[in-house]
Parts: sequence; C-alpha cells; structure tokens
Amino acid sequence: MTTLAPDTFLMCAPEHFEVAYIINPWMEGNIAHGDRLTAQGQWQELVHALRTVARVDCMPAAAGVPDMVFTANGGLVLGDKVILSAFKHVERQPEEAHFAAWFAARGLQVLRMPHGLHFEGAGDALLDRGSDLLWLGYGHRSELACAPVIADMLGIEVQPLQLVDPRFYHLDTCFCPLQGGYLLYYPAAFDVAAQERIAARVPSHKRFAVTQQDALNFACNAVNSGKHVFLNQASPALNAQLERWGFSVSQIALTEFMKAGGAAKCLTLKMNEPRPAQQVAAG
Ligand code: ARG
Repeated sequence: MTTLAPDTFLMCAPEHFEVAYIINPWMEGNIAHGDRLTAQGQWQELVHALRTVARVDCMPAAAGVPDMVFTANGGLVLGDKVILSAFKHVERQPEEAHFAAWFAARGLQVLRMPHGLHFEGAGDALLDRGSDLLWLGYGHRSELACAPVIADMLGIEVQPLQLVDPRFYHLDTCFCPLQGGYLLYYPAAFDVAAQERIAARVPSHKRFAVTQQDALNFACNAVNSGKHVFLNQASPALNAQLERWGFSVSQIALTEFMKAGGAAKCLTLKMNEPRPAQQVAAG
C-alpha cells in the first residue's frame, strides 16, 4: 500500500486584510467595518483545524493588497504547473507578482494567460473529484475564452459553467467538488445550460443542491481534504447529507472574511494536485 503525501494548502495571514474597496456585492457597506483582530482569530482557527489533517504553507502578507488572503485566486495548480491569475479588477492585479514569485520559488512552472484575458485561478477553476475534468466558472471574473487555453496548457478537459448571480461571482462560492466525485452546489447561481452540463456529468445521487440559506452562508465555499470538510456554516440538513456521504464536517466561523465575499475555500489554494496517471505517462 502506498502512503499518500498529506494535502498542502497555501494560505496568507490577514495582517493587512481589510475591506478597502468594493468589487463584489458582499463588500458593499463594509468598508472600514472589519475587525482585524477577529479576522486574525478566525483565520488561525481555520489554520489549526486544517493542520489536524493537512499541511498549511503560508506566504508572506504584503501591504496594499488586502485581498491576498484569498489565495485561491492566486492561480490554478496542476502537477508541476500553475496558471497564474490575471485579475479582472485593478485593485487585485498587484497580487499577481507576489503569487508568481511564490510559485516560482516552490519550483512550479508559472504559465500566463494571453494578454487581456481575465482568469482568477482556483476561485473559478475547480477539478472534479470523480473524473478527469476541470470546471470553469465564467461570467463575472474569469472569461469563457479561458476554457480552450487552459485545456491546451494543462491537457485536461474543461467544462465551462456560466455564473449568473453577482453574489456568487466565483465558482467556488457556489460549487464544491468533493472526494469520491460528490458535489455540493447552488443551482440558481448558474444558467440553465450550466445546470444541464452539471447534471450530465455528476450522477444525481452524488450531487446535492444546497438551499439559498446555506449558499449565503458560504457552505459551498468548503475546503475538502480526504473525508474532512471545513466550512463557515452548514444547516443540519446539509450536515446530515455530508455525513451520509461519509464526510466529517468542521464549522469554523469566518464572518470577517464574508464581509469581503469569501470564506474557507477562498482562503486556501491546494498546492498538490497530482496529474492523473495516464496524463503523466503521456506528457
Ligand atoms: N474580495 C475578494 C474579491 O472580490 C474576495 C475573493 C474571494 N475568493 C474566492 N475564491 N471566492 O475578489
């Protein structure tokens, strides 16, 4: 039996975290309404919880980029490659150099999107956990035209999903593939074609449509490592469903980060995403 290396998540401490501008509906009314000490405590809780089952690597925080805590948006890692994000909003564009330097120092090959194409990394690009497939959310931040570029760069099938509700502006706010090919999602965040595409690829007994209330509590913005799920908050019904699928659920309040439009999953970037065996052999 082979022993698998533990999952490794990249995080960035909220030393400089604040709501300093508005680029999504969650941030409205929250400028200067954050409490950084509370944010630091909530972030530490998440780190502690993740470290019970996984590795957490931290990149240095930097002044002037308050959203860099949301490392999911740094890029998309697959094997030894990372596609660097090209942020839509100028406010987040200075993060790109920080992430590029971090990835290069870890020995990853840093790939860039063609000039002018917006792409927000693992916030919008999520690997399916049942088949060799990447889901790409587009419509708010990342662009549909990224799909063929990513497919070509990484040699993986990419299924685009149009996002239609501005509150769910990144795919990871409303869609969460889980180990074993399971899926949590909030169908109303997607257009009809996307809902059909999801139903065509994920069998109904393996997908669970969360309620609007769970979606607004960022239940889909969950970190999954093995049979463990870490999230801000889940209703008893959602907890029961996850337990039926064999997952243990840890709820960690991340309310300070929700003021900026993010929660558990946004605060992490999974660094070890091994290539499926056949692709490694082919490549
Ligand atoms: N304020 C950040 C933004 O609007 C939040 C990013 C949350 N990240 C995520 N992967 N959903 O870009």
